[in-house]
Amino acid sequence: MEKILVLDFGGQYDQLIARRVRELNVYAEIRPYNRITPEEIRAEGYVGVIFTGGPNSVYDPASPHCDPAVLKLGIPILGICYGHQLLAWAAGGEVCTAAEKSEYGKVTVNVKKPESILFDGIPAESVCWMSHTDFVKQVPEGFSVTAVTGACPCAAFEDPERKLYGVQFHPEVTHTEYGFRMIGNFVLKVCGCKAEWRMDDFCRKSLEEIRAKVGDGKVLLALSGGVDSSVCAALLAEAVGSNLTCVFVDHGMMRKNEPEEVREAFSRWNINFMGIDASERFLERLRGITEPERKRKIIGEEFIRVFEDAAKQIGSVDFLAQGTIYPDVIESGLGDAAVIKSHHNVGGLPDFVDFREIIEPLRMLFKDEVRQLGRELGLPEPLVKRQPFPGPGLAIRVMGDITKEKLDILREADAIFREEVDAFAARGKLPEAASQYFAVLLNTRSVGVMGDARTYGYTVALRSVTTDDFMTADWTRLPYELMAAAGTRIPNEVRSVGRVVYDITSKPPATVEWE
Ligand code: XMP
Repeated sequence: MEKILVLDFGGQYDQLIARRVRELNVYAEIRPYNRITPEEIRAEGYVGVIFTGGPNSVYDPASPHCDPAVLKLGIPILGICYGHQLLAWAAGGEVCTAAEKSEYGKVTVNVKKPESILFDGIPAESVCWMSHTDFVKQVPEGFSVTAVTGACPCAAFEDPERKLYGVQFHPEVTHTEYGFRMIGNFVLKVCGCKAEWRMDDFCRKSLEEIRAKVGDGKVLLALSGGVDSSVCAALLAEAVGSNLTCVFVDHGMMRKNEPEEVREAFSRWNINFMGIDASERFLERLRGITEPERKRKIIGEEFIRVFEDAAKQIGSVDFLAQGTIYPDVIESGLGDAAVIKSHHNVGGLPDFVDFREIIEPLRMLFKDEVRQLGRELGLPEPLVKRQPFPGPGLAIRVMGDITKEKLDILREADAIFREEVDAFAARGKLPEAASQYFAVLLNTRSVGVMGDARTYGYTVALRSVTTDDFMTADWTRLPYELMAAAGTRIPNEVRSVGRVVYDITSKPPATVEWE
């Protein structure tokens, strides 16, 4: 399989570089700069290397450097930002660390060598996104400058003979107008990739690998109903059928119809599905608890206890499967730490489950690729498209103490709100995408009037956020008609709700969830 190596020097956008390459249907992997040797790059069959950005200065002795022999492999290299400076430095050029003017943000780049393959099909002047102080002052012998900006005499350079290219700006971010095209020019035209990486291939290969590894062994998976664990379950179900046991713990704090939908989605495979209704047990432990952190802790612990009981019932298990995905792997350092993180995904299970090995079939996929794989495996669209849902579930959306009555009220109100948002989205009537939307049941009652009688009902808060990464978020500007529909339907259809409000705080200062 053709693959591109993204050599990581600590840049902020490394994941984006790999994403862009994969969007071209070429497989890309991120590896830390010091965890792969030039011999391994050749032996592992990479057809191109991209040096990422990074916060350092090349002359700083503590800065990350790769073996300069990488430049002699004859494999095309594209250096980005710090990677561009490193390439210049390693090839004998000069980097200036005392620029008079730093460039941050959008900058106009002028192409000086229109015949450069990297700028093929790109206008002479375009907007690129920069973030640097250092710059390449003197290009190495054999290189020529291919683009400049007002403040940067070498915004791009190349040695097409040796297939070495560098850009000071970031082509991987969408603010760089023609960035995707530049990456495409490098990957497809310089490296000569044929763009054959497809999800159905990945699916087929993964099935073969899982079968070869698992043989007749037994696999255990904790299925939460979230996208990652559901797709992982579908892949394993397809690969090993009845040797798979999925344990689905219903803690009683799922959304409306969620446990049934999960069961239904997996009923077509001949797997062992162990659905455990542990709602009474969880409610009992949560009785009278109002402090959000206590709620979270209790649910986490109780989940492990329930899973522990299930694992004992099932007996000896050879493999524990987890739905770890690529961002989890990257965030945990791409090294040994990845395993520790994946243990966390299922709440510390490996301490007590008797298994031989962990298998993580999605560990090389990004979230949207996981969704694509789910579709490939025939999972229903609502499951594949599911918005994020916190592990503690509705417990952290019922303010104050949790009772079955409050959970039922919230489930109904939440279902109505989500139905309305989905309907508006389906009709193309949302001015901006709603990334996560749900209802919260407040601990405040208020006075109202219904059918000439006084009411004293619960207050439901509606929350919808628009975000890319959930680290920061803005409240969604939902259309008034949608809010009007939800504001009418919820008190009319859900007994005990007397008032509906909309949350207009961004994150920060608020968080997405209320607890
Ligand atoms: P906050 O409230 O921290 O939420 O702004 C950011 C995103 O994380 C989700 N979230 C959780 N997900 N377990 C999870 O798996 C949790 O305990 C948890 N708490 C928050 C939240 O729904 C949002 O998408």
